[in-house]
Amino acid sequence: MLFDEYRFRTGALLKNRVALAPLTNKQSHSDGRCSEAERRWLRRRAEGGFGAIMTCAAHVTSDGQTWDGQLGCFGDELVPGLAKLAEGLRTTGTLPFVQLYHGGARATPRLTHTQPWSASPFDDAAPGFVPPRPARETDLERVIQAFADAARRARDAGFAGVEIHGAHGFLISQFLSGTVNRRTDRWGGSLDNRARLARCVTQAVRSAVSSDFCVGMRLSAEDGGWACGMDLDESLQVARWLAEDGADFVHLSLWDVTRNTSKRPDQHPVTLFRAALPSDVAIVAAGNVWSRTDAENTLARGADVIALGKAAILNPDWPLRAAEPEFEPERGPIEPHALRELAISSPFADYLRTFDGLVTDGR
Ligand SMILES: Cc1cc2nc3c(=O)[nH]c(=O)nc-3n(C[C@H](O)[C@H](O)[C@H](O)COP(=O)(O)O)c2cc1C
Repeated sequence: MLFDEYRFRTGALLKNRVALAPLTNKQSHSDGRCSEAERRWLRRRAEGGFGAIMTCAAHVTSDGQTWDGQLGCFGDELVPGLAKLAEGLRTTGTLPFVQLYHGGARATPRLTHTQPWSASPFDDAAPGFVPPRPARETDLERVIQAFADAARRARDAGFAGVEIHGAHGFLISQFLSGTVNRRTDRWGGSLDNRARLARCVTQAVRSAVSSDFCVGMRLSAEDGGWACGMDLDESLQVARWLAEDGADFVHLSLWDVTRNTSKRPDQHPVTLFRAALPSDVAIVAAGNVWSRTDAENTLARGADVIALGKAAILNPDWPLRAAEPEFEPERGPIEPHALRELAISSPFADYLRTFDGLVTDGR
């Protein structure tokens, strides 16, 4: 099952059901150009057998940037670097995707040189957090167009598709939120209004690219990390709307695929989304998948593709190795110097130290 092919409704064929989850790695150039280090890290996973490779969150406007060394997709000058990345990935037989991103309130003024903006102003204890100003109509028109332009760039660069980042409390998720979004205009209040940005972005991206180019959105079904004010039933409705708007896949960021939903503890999110979505809209699921059994159990619940984050960082050959009956993935923590052998350069290695349990001298 894990090693079966999967055909998206666009016609694009995945050689197996294992994807690299989008992983911020801070390895690109400060102007957003794709670096050799970023290419190497992704190419190594493509060579390790991943059927799909998602880039890290790539900002679609310069005011959407959150991280140092973040890959950009905000200007035509970035296309040659992206094309080199896509070409290198394609030669391995994987399908490459760009994750399209805007940080909203989580954009970093030190990098963007402007005040962040979001649905509504709010405060947060995160270090360096600058309260955002509320979005103007022109910000929203501009960002919708920017997502569409970025998708066109990804297509021109040779990618198979894009994933719009609608999860984790970043711009689109800030608008979806029932608590962060306190607007009283057509972008806030009812779910129709809070989902307007997600839907307008999906529709604009869909019309910017041809029907053989995959378009999807990543969603947080419920609260987790920075995502707050997310209600399971609202997320199910949003996913249905996105399918109507032309999404070919919905990527559920679950943090732990073994857990049922908080709202209905006897029900699993993948089963609920599978029932809510047309059968030809793929479900990608991510969250603490380490073993082949974890992955296959999630496929059995109705996911079509499993995305691996931490397991892929520590096991670049995970798909090739998982076919072996004795395969036991490395779960960390590993020595910092061992990261170099996994095609991880120092900015990413330093970032990984801020995550629990991956690196011996980490948090
Ligand atoms: C180092 C790191 C960077 C991440 N960067 C992103 C990102 O750019 N975009 C995103 O949607 N999720 C990001 N995530 C979340 C992962 O895609 C994934 O959903 C999460 O790590 C849970 O899956 P895992 O347990 O297999 O790692 C990141 C996670 C980690 C550990």
